[in-house]
Amino acid sequence: MSDKVIQAADFGCVAVLMGGTSSEREVSLVSGAAVLKALQDRGVNAIGVDGIPTLLDGLIARKFDRVFNILHGNKGGGENGVLQGLLESFAIPYTGSGVLGSALAMDKIRTKQVWLSLGLPTPRYVRLERGDDVVAAARTLGLPVIIKPSCEGSSVGITRVFKESDLDAAVQLAAGYPGEMLMEQLIEGSEFSVPVLGEQVLPSIRIVPAGEYYDYHAKYIADNTTYICPGLEAPEEQQMQTLVLKAFKAIGCSGWGRIDVMRDQFGKHYLLEVNTAPGMTSHSLVPKSARQMGIEFEELVWRILADTLG
Ligand SMILES: Nc1ncnc2c1ncn2[C@@H]1O[C@H](COP(=O)(O)OP(=O)(O)O)[C@@H](O)[C@H]1O
Ligand SMILES: [Mg+2]
Repeated sequence: MSDKVIQAADFGCVAVLMGGTSSEREVSLVSGAAVLKALQDRGVNAIGVDGIPTLLDGLIARKFDRVFNILHGNKGGGENGVLQGLLESFAIPYTGSGVLGSALAMDKIRTKQVWLSLGLPTPRYVRLERGDDVVAAARTLGLPVIIKPSCEGSSVGITRVFKESDLDAAVQLAAGYPGEMLMEQLIEGSEFSVPVLGEQVLPSIRIVPAGEYYDYHAKYIADNTTYICPGLEAPEEQQMQTLVLKAFKAIGCSGWGRIDVMRDQFGKHYLLEVNTAPGMTSHSLVPKSARQMGIEFEELVWRILADTLG
Protein backbone atom coordinates (compact mmCIF):
# COMPACT_ATOMS: atom_id res chain seq x y z
CA MET A 1 0.00 0.00 0.00
CA SER A 2 1.37 3.46 -0.86
CA ASP A 3 1.49 6.37 1.59
CA LYS A 4 -1.17 8.23 -0.40
CA VAL A 5 -4.03 9.44 1.78
CA ILE A 6 -7.00 7.19 1.16
CA GLN A 7 -10.44 8.73 0.66
CA ALA A 8 -13.74 6.89 1.16
CA ALA A 9 -14.48 7.30 -2.57
CA ASP A 10 -11.30 5.38 -3.47
CA PHE A 11 -13.01 2.17 -2.39
CA GLY A 12 -15.90 2.53 -4.86
CA CYS A 13 -18.95 0.43 -4.05
CA VAL A 14 -18.15 -2.11 -1.33
CA ALA A 15 -20.17 -5.27 -0.73
CA VAL A 16 -20.04 -6.30 2.93
CA LEU A 17 -20.60 -10.03 2.55
CA MET A 18 -22.15 -11.66 5.62
CA GLY A 19 -24.63 -14.31 6.80
CA GLY A 20 -24.60 -17.18 4.34
CA THR A 21 -25.51 -20.76 5.13
CA SER A 22 -22.83 -21.89 7.60
CA SER A 23 -23.50 -22.77 11.23
CA GLU A 24 -21.87 -19.44 12.09
CA ARG A 25 -24.49 -17.46 10.13
CA GLU A 26 -25.85 -15.58 13.15
CA VAL A 27 -22.43 -14.42 14.38
CA SER A 28 -21.53 -13.40 10.83
CA LEU A 29 -24.66 -11.26 10.58
CA VAL A 30 -23.69 -9.43 13.79
CA SER A 31 -20.09 -8.97 12.58
CA GLY A 32 -21.36 -7.82 9.18
CA ALA A 33 -23.74 -5.24 10.63
CA ALA A 34 -20.91 -3.77 12.73
CA VAL A 35 -18.52 -3.65 9.73
CA LEU A 36 -21.19 -2.12 7.50
CA LYS A 37 -21.97 0.62 10.01
CA ALA A 38 -18.27 1.41 10.55
CA LEU A 39 -17.71 1.82 6.79
CA GLN A 40 -20.85 3.87 6.24
CA ASP A 41 -20.00 6.13 9.19
CA ARG A 42 -16.67 6.80 7.47
CA GLY A 43 -18.48 7.79 4.27
CA VAL A 44 -17.83 4.58 2.31
CA ASN A 45 -20.46 3.51 -0.20
CA ALA A 46 -21.00 0.10 1.43
CA ILE A 47 -23.90 -2.31 0.93
CA GLY A 48 -24.74 -5.37 3.04
CA VAL A 49 -25.03 -8.62 1.05
CA ASP A 50 -26.34 -11.88 2.53
CA GLY A 51 -24.58 -14.95 1.14
CA ILE A 52 -22.62 -15.84 -1.99
CA PRO A 53 -25.57 -16.38 -4.44
CA THR A 54 -26.79 -12.81 -3.79
CA LEU A 55 -23.25 -11.51 -4.18
CA LEU A 56 -22.95 -13.35 -7.49
CA ASP A 57 -26.00 -11.51 -8.89
CA GLY A 58 -24.34 -8.21 -7.92
CA LEU A 59 -21.02 -9.27 -9.46
CA ILE A 60 -22.67 -10.17 -12.75
CA ALA A 61 -24.44 -6.78 -12.74
CA ARG A 62 -21.00 -5.15 -12.13
CA LYS A 63 -22.46 -3.50 -9.04
CA PHE A 64 -19.45 -3.86 -6.71
CA ASP A 65 -15.85 -2.66 -6.87
CA ARG A 66 -14.61 -4.71 -3.91
CA VAL A 67 -15.78 -7.07 -1.18
CA PHE A 68 -15.35 -6.96 2.57
CA ASN A 69 -15.77 -10.64 3.43
CA ILE A 70 -17.12 -11.31 6.88
CA LEU A 71 -18.70 -14.70 6.22
CA HIS A 72 -17.56 -17.12 8.92
CA GLY A 73 -17.12 -20.85 8.59
CA ASN A 74 -16.70 -23.54 6.03
CA LYS A 75 -20.10 -24.49 4.68
CA GLY A 76 -21.28 -21.95 2.14
CA GLY A 77 -17.75 -21.33 0.95
CA GLY A 78 -17.03 -17.99 2.56
CA GLU A 79 -13.87 -18.82 4.47
CA ASN A 80 -12.49 -21.85 2.61
CA GLY A 81 -11.23 -20.49 -0.71
CA VAL A 82 -14.40 -21.01 -2.77
CA LEU A 83 -15.53 -17.37 -2.51
CA GLN A 84 -11.96 -16.21 -3.00
CA GLY A 85 -11.74 -18.16 -6.28
CA LEU A 86 -15.02 -16.71 -7.46
CA LEU A 87 -13.83 -13.16 -6.75
CA GLU A 88 -10.48 -13.80 -8.45
CA SER A 89 -12.31 -14.86 -11.58
CA PHE A 90 -14.25 -11.57 -11.56
CA ALA A 91 -11.01 -9.64 -10.76
CA ILE A 92 -12.73 -8.08 -7.76
CA PRO A 93 -10.43 -7.25 -4.80
CA TYR A 94 -11.47 -8.65 -1.42
CA THR A 95 -10.34 -8.52 2.18
CA GLY A 96 -8.35 -11.28 3.83
CA SER A 97 -6.46 -14.28 2.55
CA GLY A 98 -6.49 -15.56 -1.03
CA VAL A 99 -7.56 -18.96 -2.35
CA LEU A 100 -4.59 -20.93 -1.01
CA GLY A 101 -4.40 -19.38 2.46
CA SER A 102 -8.17 -19.63 2.96
CA ALA A 103 -8.35 -23.25 1.85
CA LEU A 104 -5.33 -24.37 3.86
CA ALA A 105 -6.40 -22.54 7.01
CA MET A 106 -9.83 -24.19 6.87
CA ASP A 107 -8.17 -27.62 7.10
CA LYS A 108 -6.44 -28.14 10.45
CA ILE A 109 -4.54 -31.25 9.31
CA ARG A 110 -3.08 -29.56 6.19
CA THR A 111 -2.24 -26.46 8.24
CA LYS A 112 -0.28 -28.59 10.71
CA GLN A 113 1.51 -30.41 7.92
CA VAL A 114 2.82 -27.10 6.58
CA TRP A 115 3.87 -25.86 10.01
CA LEU A 116 5.60 -29.13 10.86
CA SER A 117 7.47 -29.15 7.55
CA LEU A 118 8.93 -25.75 8.52
CA GLY A 119 9.72 -26.77 12.08
CA LEU A 120 7.02 -24.53 13.56
CA PRO A 121 5.61 -25.90 16.84
CA THR A 122 2.13 -27.42 16.85
CA PRO A 123 0.76 -30.22 19.08
CA ARG A 124 1.66 -33.76 17.94
CA TYR A 125 -1.27 -35.37 16.12
CA VAL A 126 -2.65 -38.39 14.35
CA ARG A 127 -4.99 -38.20 11.37
CA LEU A 128 -8.00 -40.41 12.05
CA GLU A 129 -10.13 -42.26 9.56
CA ARG A 130 -13.47 -43.80 10.36
CA GLY A 131 -12.82 -47.33 11.59
CA ASP A 132 -9.24 -46.66 12.78
CA ASP A 133 -8.01 -48.17 16.05
CA VAL A 134 -8.39 -45.08 18.24
CA VAL A 135 -6.91 -46.68 21.33
CA ALA A 136 -3.71 -47.43 19.41
CA ALA A 137 -3.69 -43.86 18.10
CA ALA A 138 -4.11 -42.46 21.60
CA ARG A 139 -1.28 -44.67 22.85
CA THR A 140 1.10 -43.22 20.26
CA LEU A 141 0.35 -39.71 21.52
CA GLY A 142 -0.27 -40.52 25.18
CA LEU A 143 -3.36 -39.33 27.04
CA PRO A 144 -4.78 -36.75 27.43
CA VAL A 145 -5.71 -35.97 23.84
CA ILE A 146 -8.24 -33.81 22.04
CA ILE A 147 -10.27 -35.09 19.09
CA LYS A 148 -11.62 -32.70 16.47
CA PRO A 149 -13.06 -32.57 12.97
CA SER A 150 -10.40 -31.13 10.64
CA CYS A 151 -12.60 -28.55 8.92
CA GLU A 152 -15.02 -27.13 11.49
CA GLY A 153 -14.88 -24.06 13.72
CA SER A 154 -16.40 -22.64 16.92
CA SER A 155 -15.16 -25.68 18.90
CA VAL A 156 -17.96 -27.86 17.46
CA GLY A 157 -17.36 -31.60 17.39
CA ILE A 158 -14.38 -31.28 19.78
CA THR A 159 -13.81 -33.43 22.87
CA ARG A 160 -10.95 -33.56 25.34
CA VAL A 161 -10.24 -37.15 26.34
CA PHE A 162 -8.53 -38.14 29.59
CA LYS A 163 -9.26 -41.89 29.67
CA GLU A 164 -9.34 -44.62 27.02
CA SER A 165 -12.96 -45.53 27.71
CA ASP A 166 -14.04 -42.06 26.48
CA LEU A 167 -12.25 -42.30 23.12
CA ASP A 168 -15.03 -43.96 21.14
CA ALA A 169 -17.67 -41.39 22.03
CA ALA A 170 -15.28 -38.55 21.14
CA VAL A 171 -14.53 -40.06 17.73
CA GLN A 172 -18.22 -40.65 17.08
CA LEU A 173 -18.96 -37.00 17.78
CA ALA A 174 -16.19 -35.73 15.46
CA ALA A 175 -17.18 -38.25 12.78
CA GLY A 176 -20.61 -36.59 12.62
CA TYR A 177 -19.00 -33.69 10.73
CA PRO A 178 -17.85 -33.81 7.11
CA GLY A 179 -14.21 -34.34 6.20
CA GLU A 180 -11.33 -35.79 8.14
CA MET A 181 -10.66 -35.93 11.88
CA LEU A 182 -7.57 -35.54 13.99
CA MET A 183 -6.43 -36.54 17.43
CA GLU A 184 -4.00 -34.10 19.04
CA GLN A 185 -1.87 -34.12 22.12
CA LEU A 186 -3.77 -32.02 24.70
CA ILE A 187 -1.70 -29.06 25.83
CA GLU A 188 -2.44 -28.21 29.42
CA GLY A 189 -1.57 -24.61 30.10
CA SER A 190 -2.97 -21.30 28.94
CA GLU A 191 -4.65 -20.28 25.74
CA PHE A 192 -4.02 -17.27 23.50
CA SER A 193 -5.37 -15.83 20.32
CA VAL A 194 -3.23 -13.45 18.32
CA PRO A 195 -4.53 -11.17 15.53
CA VAL A 196 -2.59 -10.21 12.43
CA LEU A 197 -3.37 -6.98 10.56
CA GLY A 198 -1.46 -6.47 7.31
CA GLU A 199 2.20 -7.02 8.15
CA GLN A 200 1.66 -6.31 11.83
CA VAL A 201 0.89 -8.70 14.70
CA LEU A 202 -1.46 -7.18 17.27
CA PRO A 203 -1.16 -7.86 21.01
CA SER A 204 -2.00 -11.40 22.11
CA ILE A 205 -5.16 -12.04 24.09
CA ARG A 206 -5.04 -14.56 26.90
CA ILE A 207 -8.35 -16.36 27.20
CA VAL A 208 -9.32 -17.58 30.63
CA PRO A 209 -12.65 -19.41 30.39
CA ALA A 210 -14.56 -19.93 33.62
CA GLY A 211 -15.22 -23.56 32.59
CA GLU A 212 -12.65 -26.13 31.55
CA TYR A 213 -11.72 -24.83 28.12
CA TYR A 214 -12.72 -22.45 25.34
CA ASP A 215 -15.66 -24.52 24.10
CA TYR A 216 -18.72 -23.38 22.18
CA HIS A 217 -20.46 -22.29 25.37
CA ALA A 218 -17.49 -20.16 26.49
CA LYS A 219 -17.22 -18.61 23.01
CA TYR A 220 -20.81 -17.59 22.44
CA ILE A 221 -23.00 -18.08 25.49
CA ALA A 222 -21.15 -17.58 28.77
CA ASP A 223 -20.24 -14.04 29.76
CA ASN A 224 -17.70 -15.04 32.40
CA THR A 225 -14.68 -15.64 30.18
CA THR A 226 -11.80 -13.33 31.09
CA TYR A 227 -9.65 -11.78 28.34
CA ILE A 228 -6.23 -10.37 29.19
CA CYS A 229 -4.50 -8.21 26.58
CA PRO A 230 -1.62 -8.22 26.04
CA GLY A 231 -1.57 -11.78 27.29
CA LEU A 232 2.15 -11.97 28.13
CA GLU A 233 5.01 -9.85 29.43
CA ALA A 234 7.46 -8.25 26.98
CA PRO A 235 9.98 -10.94 25.95
CA GLU A 236 7.47 -13.80 25.80
CA GLU A 237 4.92 -11.60 24.03
CA GLN A 238 7.54 -10.78 21.42
CA GLN A 239 8.35 -14.48 20.97
CA MET A 240 4.70 -15.33 20.44
CA GLN A 241 4.23 -12.47 17.96
CA THR A 242 7.26 -13.55 15.92
CA LEU A 243 5.99 -17.13 15.83
CA VAL A 244 2.50 -16.01 14.80
CA LEU A 245 3.73 -13.91 11.88
CA LYS A 246 5.84 -16.81 10.58
CA ALA A 247 2.93 -19.23 11.00
CA PHE A 248 0.49 -16.87 9.21
CA LYS A 249 2.81 -16.40 6.24
CA ALA A 250 3.64 -20.11 6.08
CA ILE A 251 -0.03 -20.87 5.37
CA GLY A 252 -0.08 -18.26 2.60
CA CYS A 253 -2.40 -15.98 4.57
CA SER A 254 -2.58 -12.23 4.11
CA GLY A 255 -4.62 -9.13 4.93
CA TRP A 256 -5.85 -10.03 8.36
CA GLY A 257 -6.64 -13.04 10.53
CA ARG A 258 -6.14 -14.59 13.94
CA ILE A 259 -4.07 -17.52 15.17
CA ASP A 260 -4.92 -19.64 18.22
CA VAL A 261 -1.93 -20.65 20.33
CA MET A 262 -1.49 -22.76 23.49
CA ARG A 263 1.34 -22.23 25.98
CA ASP A 264 2.29 -25.10 28.26
CA GLN A 265 3.52 -24.90 31.85
CA PHE A 266 7.13 -24.70 30.64
CA GLY A 267 6.41 -21.67 28.46
CA LYS A 268 6.55 -23.56 25.16
CA HIS A 269 4.16 -22.26 22.48
CA TYR A 270 2.04 -24.51 20.24
CA LEU A 271 0.16 -23.27 17.19
CA LEU A 272 -3.42 -24.58 16.94
CA GLU A 273 -5.07 -23.04 13.89
CA VAL A 274 -5.59 -19.94 11.72
CA ASN A 275 -8.90 -18.11 11.38
CA THR A 276 -9.03 -16.13 8.14
CA ALA A 277 -12.30 -14.25 8.69
CA PRO A 278 -12.59 -13.98 12.47
CA GLY A 279 -15.47 -12.39 14.38
CA MET A 280 -15.88 -8.62 14.19
CA THR A 281 -18.66 -8.01 16.68
CA SER A 282 -17.95 -5.39 19.33
CA HIS A 283 -17.02 -8.22 21.75
CA SER A 284 -14.78 -10.11 19.32
CA LEU A 285 -11.09 -10.75 19.91
CA VAL A 286 -9.53 -8.84 16.98
CA PRO A 287 -11.28 -5.53 17.88
CA LYS A 288 -10.32 -6.06 21.54
CA SER A 289 -6.66 -6.44 20.68
CA ALA A 290 -6.68 -3.54 18.19
CA ARG A 291 -8.24 -1.28 20.82
CA GLN A 292 -5.31 -2.08 23.12
CA MET A 293 -3.05 -0.58 20.41
CA GLY A 294 -5.26 2.52 20.16
CA ILE A 295 -6.94 1.34 16.95
CA GLU A 296 -10.68 1.85 17.38
CA PHE A 297 -13.23 -0.34 15.59
CA GLU A 298 -13.91 2.05 12.67
CA GLU A 299 -10.20 2.50 12.04
CA LEU A 300 -9.64 -1.27 12.19
CA VAL A 301 -12.35 -1.93 9.61
CA TRP A 302 -10.94 0.84 7.41
CA ARG A 303 -7.44 -0.63 7.58
CA ILE A 304 -8.64 -4.13 6.69
CA LEU A 305 -10.42 -2.70 3.65
CA ALA A 306 -7.51 -0.41 2.73
CA ASP A 307 -5.37 -3.52 2.28
CA THR A 308 -7.47 -4.37 -0.81
CA LEU A 309 -6.25 -1.20 -2.60
CA GLY A 310 -2.94 -2.97 -3.20
N1 LIG B 1 -4.15 -29.45 21.39
C1 LIG B 1 -4.92 -28.76 22.23
N2 LIG B 1 -4.63 -28.69 23.54
C2 LIG B 1 -5.41 -28.01 24.40
N3 LIG B 1 -6.55 -27.39 24.05
C3 LIG B 1 -6.92 -27.42 22.75
C4 LIG B 1 -6.13 -28.11 21.77
N4 LIG B 1 -6.74 -27.98 20.58
C5 LIG B 1 -7.86 -27.26 20.80
N5 LIG B 1 -7.98 -26.92 22.11
C6 LIG B 1 -9.10 -26.17 22.71
O1 LIG B 1 -10.25 -26.28 21.87
C7 LIG B 1 -10.59 -24.99 21.33
C8 LIG B 1 -11.01 -25.10 19.87
O2 LIG B 1 -9.96 -25.68 19.13
P1 LIG B 1 -9.43 -25.06 17.76
O3 LIG B 1 -8.36 -25.98 17.27
O4 LIG B 1 -9.08 -23.63 17.95
O5 LIG B 1 -10.69 -25.24 16.78
P2 LIG B 1 -11.92 -24.27 16.38
O6 LIG B 1 -11.76 -22.97 17.11
O7 LIG B 1 -11.79 -24.13 14.90
O8 LIG B 1 -13.14 -25.03 16.75
C9 LIG B 1 -9.36 -24.13 21.52
O9 LIG B 1 -9.74 -22.77 21.59
C10 LIG B 1 -8.79 -24.69 22.82
O10 LIG B 1 -9.50 -24.19 23.94
MG1 LIG C 1 -10.04 -21.84 17.36
